[in-house]
Amino acid sequence: MTGDRFLSEPRRPLQLISGMAAEDALGPVMQVMQTAFDPMYGEAWNHSQTRSMLAIPLTHTIIAEMPLTTDASASGDPVGFSMSRRVGDEEELLLIAVIPRWRHSGAGSSLLTQVIDNAVDAGVRRILLEMRSNNPASRLYHKFGFRQIGLRKNYYKGLDSQFYDALTLELIL
Ligand SMILES: CC(C)(COP(=O)(O)OP(=O)(O)OC[C@H]1O[C@@H](n2cnc3c(N)ncnc32)[C@H](O)[C@@H]1OP(=O)(O)O)[C@@H](O)C(=O)NCCC(=O)NCCS
Repeated sequence: MTGDRFLSEPRRPLQLISGMAAEDALGPVMQVMQTAFDPMYGEAWNHSQTRSMLAIPLTHTIIAEMPLTTDASASGDPVGFSMSRRVGDEEELLLIAVIPRWRHSGAGSSLLTQVIDNAVDAGVRRILLEMRSNNPASRLYHKFGFRQIGLRKNYYKGLDSQFYDALTLELIL
């Protein structure tokens, strides 16, 4: 499964930590959240929203950390995370993010591969997500086989007062 889905190797193998306790995940998730999202679209969650979502037992997080064998001062620093909500045999990918200086080196693909592998192991039949239509992340999702199943016109509003459509994507496992 992982071999089929994994598209590009990260420059150094990241540590992927699944199922971290909510109170331990909050710090790393917020650290990534602060730099990963373009403020133009207001898509980053605040501390309170994130803490509430992490506390729900149906929420699953994966934290990507710097490998312990590299620069000792940076070892264990969070590089990215995913957050999803699993209900029965469906999973919704709520957020996936990688800090800017680690982008385009496979970290996002590693996280998404792990999301999919964990979902398969849990008996999930499909993964859903909703994204702003002009988010370049769509290329990542399409590479993994997600396809569009819905469109919500003018669902997001940017700081530029422009409205952006939301796309619903699905991956059948
Ligand atoms: C989406 C995101 C997690 C991808 O992380 P990443 O570590 O750069 O992903 P990868 O290096 O594995 O890239 C995988 C593919 O995604 C595509 N891609 C991802 N981000 C892209 C971007 N900003 N521009 C263009 N293509 C992008 C590319 O096709 C890339 O494949 P390639 O390198 O072979 O061309 C990262 O860009 C991010 O954190 N974005 C901001 C947060 C966000 O919008 N998240 C998604 C909505 S919740």
